[in-house]
Amino acid sequence: MSLALAKNTEEDLWTILEQMSLRDKIGQLRQVDGSGGRADQSLLGAIREGRVGSVINVVDPVLVNELQQIALEESPCGIPLVFARDVIHGFKTIFPIPLGQAATWNTDLAKEAARLAASEAYAAGIRWTFAPMIDVSRDPRWGRIAESFGEDPLLNAVFGRAMIEGFQGEDLAALGSIAACAKHFVGYGDSESGIDYSSTNVSEFELRNVHLEPFREAVAAGVASVMSSLSDVDGIPATAHRELIRGVLRDEWGFAGLVVSDWDSVKQLTVHGITADDREAAYQAAEARIDIEMTSDAYENHLEDLVSAGEIGVDTIDAMVMSVLTLKKNIGLFDVPYTPKDYKLGVSESAATDCAHRQASESFVLLKNDNAVLPIDRKEIDSICLVGPMADQPQEQLGTWVFDGDSGLSVTPLKAFQDTLHKDCEVVFERGLETTRSSCGELAEVAVEKASCCDVVLAIIGEEAILSGEAHCRANINLPGDQVEFVRRLKATGKTVIVIILSGRPLTIGNILPHADAVLFALHPGTMTGPAICDLIFGHTSPSGKLPFTLPKSVGQIPIYYSKKNGGRPATHDSIMSIDDIPAGAEQTSFGMTAFHLDDGFEPLFPFGFGLSYANFEYSDLTILSNELTQGGKLKVSVRVGNIGLKDAYEVVQLYVRDRVGSITRPVRELKAFEKILIPAGQVRDVRFSLSRADFSFYRRCREYGVEPGAFDLWVGGSSLADLHVAFEIDA
Ligand code: NOJ
Repeated sequence: MSLALAKNTEEDLWTILEQMSLRDKIGQLRQVDGSGGRADQSLLGAIREGRVGSVINVVDPVLVNELQQIALEESPCGIPLVFARDVIHGFKTIFPIPLGQAATWNTDLAKEAARLAASEAYAAGIRWTFAPMIDVSRDPRWGRIAESFGEDPLLNAVFGRAMIEGFQGEDLAALGSIAACAKHFVGYGDSESGIDYSSTNVSEFELRNVHLEPFREAVAAGVASVMSSLSDVDGIPATAHRELIRGVLRDEWGFAGLVVSDWDSVKQLTVHGITADDREAAYQAAEARIDIEMTSDAYENHLEDLVSAGEIGVDTIDAMVMSVLTLKKNIGLFDVPYTPKDYKLGVSESAATDCAHRQASESFVLLKNDNAVLPIDRKEIDSICLVGPMADQPQEQLGTWVFDGDSGLSVTPLKAFQDTLHKDCEVVFERGLETTRSSCGELAEVAVEKASCCDVVLAIIGEEAILSGEAHCRANINLPGDQVEFVRRLKATGKTVIVIILSGRPLTIGNILPHADAVLFALHPGTMTGPAICDLIFGHTSPSGKLPFTLPKSVGQIPIYYSKKNGGRPATHDSIMSIDDIPAGAEQTSFGMTAFHLDDGFEPLFPFGFGLSYANFEYSDLTILSNELTQGGKLKVSVRVGNIGLKDAYEVVQLYVRDRVGSITRPVRELKAFEKILIPAGQVRDVRFSLSRADFSFYRRCREYGVEPGAFDLWVGGSSLADLHVAFEIDA
């Protein structure tokens, strides 16, 4: 068969399929790990024999083309291979980790970053990425919260869409576009105890209304592929979850793309204990309609036999192969199978670093700024002391899952301050602690000594990249090592101490707040961390990040998220008491009889959506302009936001809703819309929101989606504690 004749229509794909043997077809369903490269003779042999359809982890464009040539010219059907890679938050140029991208609340930037990452990856031969990860993540102990967009379904949905649009571009077949993959379907973010790969136990309503929502949006956005999760969902491992993959994803939502398993997750069905052996694992995964088995070989070894035995129909295999061929057609692989040698990135390197810089700047969340110590007026200081284990770490600031990231491009905080201040202000540097996990010793003493001689101290601390990400979960989410003690000693010098935390997850940082005049919190901001910090410290930009998660006081508060249910006895400030107030020998009684912890109350350290600015914003005039929801129209809302500060600044205007009475209990608040706007100092802006019935629809007790008529509350403000309120109704 000559693929040169393929014309790239669906009919052509059927023609190809008709000419394939069962072995050829099974080959297309297999993805192999190519990290062994040229030396891996079994890989070359398998490609030659047509027993491989895609390859993960080859990022050398020359090798990509060599392997492609074998597939095209020597394999029985000459079908091109698709090369895949985890391009999570950048390729060579690294953007903030996805959790940090969510902290920008700027989806345009996420789309731009994904487009640039796609372009860099394409130049290396990559045509398919396993991103975005849109697992709603409500447990900061889970290392992979770094890869998510945080705790909120809407944030995961809109950032997922932005990344998909960025990776895939307007034309998926164009040079520089790569296929996206929404992962991990589904519920992976709810792993018990925040431990990777553990089980997920989630109610049907929570699964539908929280965890599935971002995937529904990804399908609507035209995502080319979906990856099944490694975990089990209510007793059924996701990779064998026929009801969710065939049922919800394909039949209910009409997803026509490709589903890939996660790494070895087909074989692992037997480890889960849902299948007895690889043969049964292959059967269950294929029946669930997992099209490609990533890295393990259950399909390779057993599908043929399962078909011969009549246990799996050829039509199922054909549907799986068609998914693979369709993906290859859609990404233009039949037309452009080789990575063009002269393919320039399509963008200059500076476009990528410029985007990385802007995105990093917008991702910092200002949590504390006593006496407006920030921004610092450069003219007022003669020396600045940078200390801390994260102040000059080109690799660590990139964050997790950056296999191809070029740390040579990194501009560290130390480098940025030295470049910016070399003439007019002395920059003193002392690491203080070897790593974030070190104890205070001689290094710390020297750092404190040096700090005491400078005008301002910047302590750049946090977590190294390796402490978050896949399989890197923590039982405690405190600042590791002696970092708090180190900062306490710095503060004891009497100097102004600015703490900058670079982390892969939310951390319990309550114990450092008393020792810091100001705190900037960032999620590993990537290549341009240094310049972003420099700009923020000197006020070239005002912090505009907002927390995409609830920052807990302690691990014991987890799970803690803003969109909780009210319960029958919600806590109020008057209804709680502290463990310290309980007299010795107190008689059994129920303090306040409401829902709180004796030792940590009911409120977090900082709420979802929170973040200070160098400006101050005043919200007023919240008005329902029109309500046509009952007639199937829109709810139009307007709010006035004034910048009453002295600096131009961005504000994230957030709109929350509560459905007062439902057939199932409804969250106390749900984010329904947001808008990030620049408001010059002293000016006001009117922000308008337009919501449709779909925004109020949810999976109801009757097991159908829909809006339930009745009274709703609506708040607009700068965090999930927004208190500007208006009520409205939707009639039957
Ligand atoms: C396992 C991870 O769970 C998944 O997210 C990733 O895409 C694959 N490995 C491939 O690296």
